[in-house]
Amino acid sequence: MILLTEPAASSLQGELTPPGDKSISHRALIMSCLAEGQSTVEGLLVSEDVLATASACRQLGMTMRKEGGVLLIDGVGGAGLSAPDAPLDMGNSGTAMRLLAGVLAAQPFRSSLIGDPSLSGRPMNRIVHPLSLMGARIETAEDGTPPLTIDGNPGLQGISYQSPIASAQVKSCLLLAGLYAQGETTVSEPLKSRDHTEKMLPVFGVRLRGGCGVSGGSKLKGADIHVPADISSSAFFMVAAALVPDSDLLLRNVGLNETRDGIIHVLEAMGADITIHDRRRFGEEDVGDVRVRYAGRLRGIDIPAELVPSLIDELPVILALSAVAEGTTRLRGAAELRVKESDRIAVMSNGLRTLGVSLTEYPDGVDIEGGAITSGRVDGAGDHRCAMSFAILGQVAPSELQVSGAENISTSYPAFSEDLDRAGGAIRILEGGRKYG
Ligand code: S3P
Repeated sequence: MILLTEPAASSLQGELTPPGDKSISHRALIMSCLAEGQSTVEGLLVSEDVLATASACRQLGMTMRKEGGVLLIDGVGGAGLSAPDAPLDMGNSGTAMRLLAGVLAAQPFRSSLIGDPSLSGRPMNRIVHPLSLMGARIETAEDGTPPLTIDGNPGLQGISYQSPIASAQVKSCLLLAGLYAQGETTVSEPLKSRDHTEKMLPVFGVRLRGGCGVSGGSKLKGADIHVPADISSSAFFMVAAALVPDSDLLLRNVGLNETRDGIIHVLEAMGADITIHDRRRFGEEDVGDVRVRYAGRLRGIDIPAELVPSLIDELPVILALSAVAEGTTRLRGAAELRVKESDRIAVMSNGLRTLGVSLTEYPDGVDIEGGAITSGRVDGAGDHRCAMSFAILGQVAPSELQVSGAENISTSYPAFSEDLDRAGGAIRILEGGRKYG
């Protein structure tokens, strides 16, 4: 799919409630599936990634229906999963594959997990190795990528695992497997990654051990979950409002979990005007309304490496905005960006170079010299967040910008272009909008 953006003709104004949080939506479905009794989920993200998790859970026996905007889910209980009669297709979603692999490793049946070409190139040894230490039997392709063939083992042993990377997918995979293992399973990591799993397990009645651990045999009971708007989707609009002169945009119900809010700290450090109104809780998650007002040209900064896990998915849009900020923006400590839905350092660097930006790539980051950009055609390379980042930059390009490889926007934000258009941005689908909207 190719998107066409134009310089925004007016400022961005008004209010917007971005779609539900993707990470929380995956977890709400998986935990509701494993729970005994009924759960309700309000505000679930309806996007391709989350639908992949929903259909996998259905293949494992979960049933769900919608009633007046609320999803009612009948869980099967931890021991009630049925063997799927076909491979579980996780589409583009690393979260779906890695979290479900933790559950499936402990089941008394065989299963396999497959994905699209992007997911089929992503590293799975980061979960296969620690799960194997627990006794799991998992085969991957030769280079440690999907498909995963899991010969379930109901006799897993708990472990205490020191993860070499800050990854919520690894952590959550092991905690879910740990629910079935003998003894305790605990996970530590070099920097704290998003903690939605640790926040949600107690809502389903599971007692955590020492902050990030579970006891084998813990049972989940049906719960009521209210999903906040995704700060990662909201980030595109925060940046748009910070870039387009005279903008004043209010983003409602945005999840402000402190393991996810690095984008707000970085935008403020660059000079953006952001105020949070009505901080409140949706269950265990912090939420607020985020107002962003244009405050002049932003300044480049050194992005603190310790903030990287809290803004990992927002780095593509931060790199895009750095291209038009004043001075240099330096990013380091972000090697993980190279193994996301695409190599995001390479995809963003290639696109920005096409627009005349001078930059230097490093294995774990990039230095970007802010300045004037040209227009032209850039490639989102099938990566939803890179495509949306270029589309936001297009709002301040000198003339039309084409963004190819944008079809996977529907994995996280199916209504992105409609929402941008409604807020006052200038965007339309030039070609191949089949999967979109
Ligand atoms: C996610 C964790 C992060 C993030 C991804 C969602 C999650 O990945 O990039 O988009 O929901 O657990 P890693 O665990 O690989 O850092």
